[in-house]
Amino acid sequence: MTEGYFAYKDNVLMAEGVALDALAKQYGTPLYVYSKAAFKDHLAQYMEAAARYETEKLRSLVCYSVKSNSNIAILNVLAKQGAGFDIVSGGELSRVLAAGGNSQKVIYSGVGKTQGEIKLALQHGILCFNVESVSELKMIDRIAGEMGKKAPVSFRVNPNVDAKTHPYISTGLKKNKFGIPFEEVISAYGLATSLENIAVIGIDCHIGSQLLDDAPLLEALDKVINLVNQLSGKGIQLNHIDIGGGIGITYDDEKPVAIQDYISRVFTKVKAWQDVYCPDRQVTVMFEPGRSISGNAGVLLGQVQYIKSNSGKNFAIVDAAMNDLMRPSLYDAYHGVKPVIIRHVSAGNYEIVGPICESGDWLARDRELAIAEGDYLAFMSAGAYGMSMASNYNTRGRAAEVLVDGDKDYLIRRREVSDDLIALETIVA
Ligand code: LLP
Repeated sequence: MTEGYFAYKDNVLMAEGVALDALAKQYGTPLYVYSKAAFKDHLAQYMEAAARYETEKLRSLVCYSVKSNSNIAILNVLAKQGAGFDIVSGGELSRVLAAGGNSQKVIYSGVGKTQGEIKLALQHGILCFNVESVSELKMIDRIAGEMGKKAPVSFRVNPNVDAKTHPYISTGLKKNKFGIPFEEVISAYGLATSLENIAVIGIDCHIGSQLLDDAPLLEALDKVINLVNQLSGKGIQLNHIDIGGGIGITYDDEKPVAIQDYISRVFTKVKAWQDVYCPDRQVTVMFEPGRSISGNAGVLLGQVQYIKSNSGKNFAIVDAAMNDLMRPSLYDAYHGVKPVIIRHVSAGNYEIVGPICESGDWLARDRELAIAEGDYLAFMSAGAYGMSMASNYNTRGRAAEVLVDGDKDYLIRRREVSDDLIALETIVA
């Protein structure tokens, strides 16, 4: 559940010091509402835990995974706290730049970087490409050569570790499309060091998302450290180890590992290895968290339009839908649902659905709620992969987004209107 930043006060659900019903009335629904303090706090949990282990030779960089929530106001808040950014497209790079992020703290992952995107990233001098295939490496080398630049790269290693999460968001198994197969990593580094326009600087992995236990991440880290040693033996010295994102959050009653504990276990391993194998080399440990920073920093508000009962099953039809929050339809994901104002009406068991013409358009199932038509509902833990995965399906304008800071609120993205939705289209004469 979305912890303290979204709590009831006198029977009204608040975002920090602002009542959510007031925001729903002012800006309309569906509406995403974020807590600035939650974003800052979640990032700080990583940065402060890592800072405890830093020495002159051991550094850290937390690169927020932009895909989880990419509003530039959010990126700006995190940039000001010192975050780096993990991007997967040229579009995300443009967002980071527009938000005032530092391109030298940007790492770029993804299996399908286009030539245009590689060029853009080189123009802006990003920190590192996380390269996912030998073909991509050759492409980066060629483009960097044409631009008279040296491209900094890591390989994204596929460690073949089971993240034990939803199959759609598991990425570190042999059968997944991501990264370089474990057995081919050494030869890929050999090739990379022979290329004129490539600077080999690190190693990366990311095994999946919504991991509640850090054991698979630590297993992947062991495998990566082992590779770093093998590479050292071949004279290839790396400056950073990027362990990816993936720490899960509480949506319902999950108990994810505490970020501080996870960070502490990562650094304990890296430090023990560094002390023995490379006490004189400066090594940076990097993280790419997304969900654990943004997920419980936001809610989606919707309003009950109609209540109906079909063959004894109760449906609450809200004005938010699968195009606003795709996770239930796509992953069968659970999001808590809370009435914005606690009312003393009779409770019923509801499936909460949107107006989209698909049976897959549901947001929550089998929920006991005391609600009536016109009530506002909050879909909790919606800050990650909510708005960033929203679409215009059924020609629905995407929701507005509001950032709350204490007792103030700011519209950080206006609601899309009909004109926006057809603005890019042309009728053929
Ligand atoms: N780094 C890379 C290379 C990634 O692919 C991802 C997420 C992350 C970092 C951030 O992972 P996180 O800390 O958020 O777990 N749409 C899905 C999640 C997809 C995750 C994709 N990769 C969902 O709504 O559950």
